[in-house]
Amino acid sequence: MDDLTLGRFAVSAKSKSLPTYSKFHVGAALLTKNGKIYEGGNIETSSFSLTICAERTAVFQAILEGEREFTSIAIASDADDYCPPCGACRQVLLDLCGKDLDIILINAKEEIMKYKITELIPHSFGEDFLK
Ligand code: THU
Repeated sequence: MDDLTLGRFAVSAKSKSLPTYSKFHVGAALLTKNGKIYEGGNIETSSFSLTICAERTAVFQAILEGEREFTSIAIASDADDYCPPCGACRQVLLDLCGKDLDIILINAKEEIMKYKITELIPHSFGEDFLK
């Protein structure tokens, strides 16, 4: 699947989010190696720190469905500019989706920026420390 198509899935996934307090919608579309897409949206609660980002809802749903191999994740938001994943999500994406994961950001003009997860979280903690 091309990056723009996956990016458009992320834009569409914004409609699933529940950003009750910030009103800032984020959508994510996670692509598995066998071509399946898991969509996510940010969900907020009145206890703000219990908020979960769009990226993590997509990843956790995919993991619960038994998926273990991923190609890329696209992220879209209400901002005109690109919405890069927060620090917590970077750790989760690295740990659960692997070092080869592509991060595809799509802005309001449908322009794309692409990174490897390892570029976004250099010098990272990881499973190797726990062996
Ligand atoms: N948010 C995400 O869903 N993903 C990110 O990577 C950045 C932030 C959400 C969390 C919260 O619901 C809202 O954006 C404002 O921080």
